[in-house]
Amino acid sequence: MNNPIAGKTILLGVTGSIASYKAADLASKLTQAGAKVDVVLTEKGCSFIPPLTFQSVTGRKAFVEADLWGGEGHVVHIELGRAADLVVIAPASANTIASLAYGMANNLLTVAVLASHCPLMIAPAMDGGMFAHPATQENLRILKERGAIVIGPAEGHLASGLTGPGRMVEPLDILGHIRYHFSRKGNLQGKKILVTAGGTREAIDPVRFITNRSSGKQGYAVAQAALDAGADVTLVTTADLPAPVGVKVVSVESAADMLKVVEHESRDAHVLIMAAAVADFTPEKVQDQKIKKETGMPALTLQPTIDILKKVSAIRKQTGFPKFLVGFAAESKDLIKNAQKKLESKDLDLIVANDILATNAGFEVDTNRVILLPRKGEPQTLPLMSKQEVADKIINLIAQWD
Ligand code: CTP
Repeated sequence: MNNPIAGKTILLGVTGSIASYKAADLASKLTQAGAKVDVVLTEKGCSFIPPLTFQSVTGRKAFVEADLWGGEGHVVHIELGRAADLVVIAPASANTIASLAYGMANNLLTVAVLASHCPLMIAPAMDGGMFAHPATQENLRILKERGAIVIGPAEGHLASGLTGPGRMVEPLDILGHIRYHFSRKGNLQGKKILVTAGGTREAIDPVRFITNRSSGKQGYAVAQAALDAGADVTLVTTADLPAPVGVKVVSVESAADMLKVVEHESRDAHVLIMAAAVADFTPEKVQDQKIKKETGMPALTLQPTIDILKKVSAIRKQTGFPKFLVGFAAESKDLIKNAQKKLESKDLDLIVANDILATNAGFEVDTNRVILLPRKGEPQTLPLMSKQEVADKIINLIAQWD
């Protein structure tokens, strides 16, 4: 997989907070993503969670205060700081934030940060009042001005019983921020990639609509793969899935809504990837009021929708944008023949053909079995793989073209 976290060394600082236990999950997720994770716990961090937990999930030594001068390394803080590609402090307490803002060297973690040459990311966690205090706000301002990336805090229930901003952002989201951070130097940097996802909803009346079985999973995976390659990604979606960190999301409902947004966003896009299952037909008239049973069986007259890809293809002939057009062909028979026909009639650069009747492929599942049919070059028949792997293959092909 094109995973920008793989092979990176991350210094994970864990300070004392009720959220300290969540850092173990973050350390585990980073390790699973292929990072080398060096954990440094402050004394207060150790009161909430032992170093052994981190050692167990990272497979590496977790450092504590006693290692500052007494550990195996000669000057452990310098080595830790220098080795890191990124320092992440999660959770970051008000005390550690204050120490960092003023360049204090009062424990292993803060000296390691001073010795580091890499970016600093912090995920504050504290009570709402402490977070809102002008001293904390000023310290965060200083850190941000110096280039630190501050993630959160999130709003919600706090250990004190208060509700408000102060909760550490969830590990999965912090992981997303780290992934986004490392992706920015990818080979598609500076390129805008527009991706559509999900099945459109065509309203019949205020409560009913016609839709299809598309879950949006393949489109979201494509958006993630494009981000991982460094692109600026806009995702036009009907689905309600968690969006990858860093993506610009535009939510739409119908084929007409999607057309409007795609047309607008395509004006400066390098690539359009139409992974959405757009309705081919829509009710001719949307009833203002809910259709009632008493009025008898309703007659539903449908009319064709505008083909978004065809329309954007026609615009491209005038403007030159988007430079690369990708369609999907969901077929239940004559896969290659039908996909090839769509590639030509919609004037695309690539079509991703998938047999929706194949086992473990197509709608709703996490895997897919596709054939990539580029306008120029040989077709690639891919074996059954995860939708994320399919997405990586599509993006790799686009990156080669570029
Ligand atoms: N598509 C589109 N606008 C539409 C319908 C489809 O842009 N109104 C796009 C889809 O997002 C997909 C490609 O066209 O990338 C092919 O969609 P598909 O439904 O397989 O093909 P259709 O051209 O609609 O033909 P059919 O449904 O008859 O197979």
